[in-house]
Amino acid sequence: MNNRFIQACRQQPVDATPVWFMRQAGRYMSAYRKIRAKHSLLDICRAPELAVEVTLQPVDAIAVDAAILFSDLLLPLVPMGIPFDFQQGEGPVIHEPIRSTAHIKQLHKFDPREDLAHVMETIKLLASPLRGRVPLIGFAGAPFTLASYAIEGGSSRNYAHTKALMYEHPKAWHQLADLFASIVSDYLSAQIEAGVQAVQLFDSWVGALSPQDYSEFALPHTRKIFENLSKHDVPTLHFGTGTSTLLPLMRQAGGNVIGLDWRIPLNHGWTLVGYDRSVQGNLDPTMLLGPTERMLQGALDVLRRANGRSGHIFNVGHGILPNTPLEHVQLLADFVHKQTE
Ligand code: CP3
Repeated sequence: MNNRFIQACRQQPVDATPVWFMRQAGRYMSAYRKIRAKHSLLDICRAPELAVEVTLQPVDAIAVDAAILFSDLLLPLVPMGIPFDFQQGEGPVIHEPIRSTAHIKQLHKFDPREDLAHVMETIKLLASPLRGRVPLIGFAGAPFTLASYAIEGGSSRNYAHTKALMYEHPKAWHQLADLFASIVSDYLSAQIEAGVQAVQLFDSWVGALSPQDYSEFALPHTRKIFENLSKHDVPTLHFGTGTSTLLPLMRQAGGNVIGLDWRIPLNHGWTLVGYDRSVQGNLDPTMLLGPTERMLQGALDVLRRANGRSGHIFNVGHGILPNTPLEHVQLLADFVHKQTE
């Protein structure tokens, strides 16, 4: 078993810097597009055999040191009472965005082992094809990012509805965020019981908050999730973007590994996180579009700033873009390994 990803999460010495990519499965791969031509995104997520196949595609094609479960961040919304769909070219659309205290009161917990049994089944089915290869990462969304989709009704530029709810009805916000924290804790525990070897909490859009608002409205709920997960013996990763001013607070909230996007040089970010934690990132995903010389220079800069310290996981600062050439991703993974062997 190639265990360098788990070793780096635990700040243990590694034989080469581990690499994986957020959104390593997806539209940039023709193998994925072939399956997508016949099935919707949600159909793939809900059909374990298809989700297994898509999870393995990047593991077969690229020298990645971890697999990430193929699923979507928004799946838990449906069983808690927030139906949504993905609409062509628009991303997720939540049918009835959450805008009132009364609506929040109608939302409820659920049993992920039953209501998201297909996710657990996918994890169990992956055990055999991944055996002796790479560890599997499970994931879920953090309360702020999940709540922002539920409240905005989809993707957003300024999170005005989300912030309006926080500022006008702080009690209702905390009730909603606490519900998300309970649901996500249970969902990630279920993934761990099903067999994932690490879990990543995606707080993709939390950089929209000031440090003061992060401390008041996000941190306590995210911290609850990491506290709940501490009973399991698996590494935890905590990811966000636009978080340069939030890193010390994200550290407080928890996670063995803290994600760094490209807006902060890796060594500056690591100083803010603290060298007693691991970091993951931080190449700008647009660099993978080319030219490849510049992409490799960017990777080299990240590696120089990591300076051979234990606890660096190479990744992009946010997901791989759909028009990225697969050959660039392959070249990049091989390059990082060769440079650090
Ligand atoms: O390879 C992997 O990283 C695993 C699969 C994965 C998906 N979604 C599949 C997916 C993961 C980890 C996610 C997480 C996710 N989903 C996040 C957090 C990560 C991030 O990027 O910050 C978020 C915010 C979502 C919600 C979501 N899913 C949006 C906003 C969209 C539409 C935007 C887009 O890129 O089209 C999706 C769609 C989605 N989820 C795709 C994939 C591969 C797009 C592909 C498709 O339509 O087939």
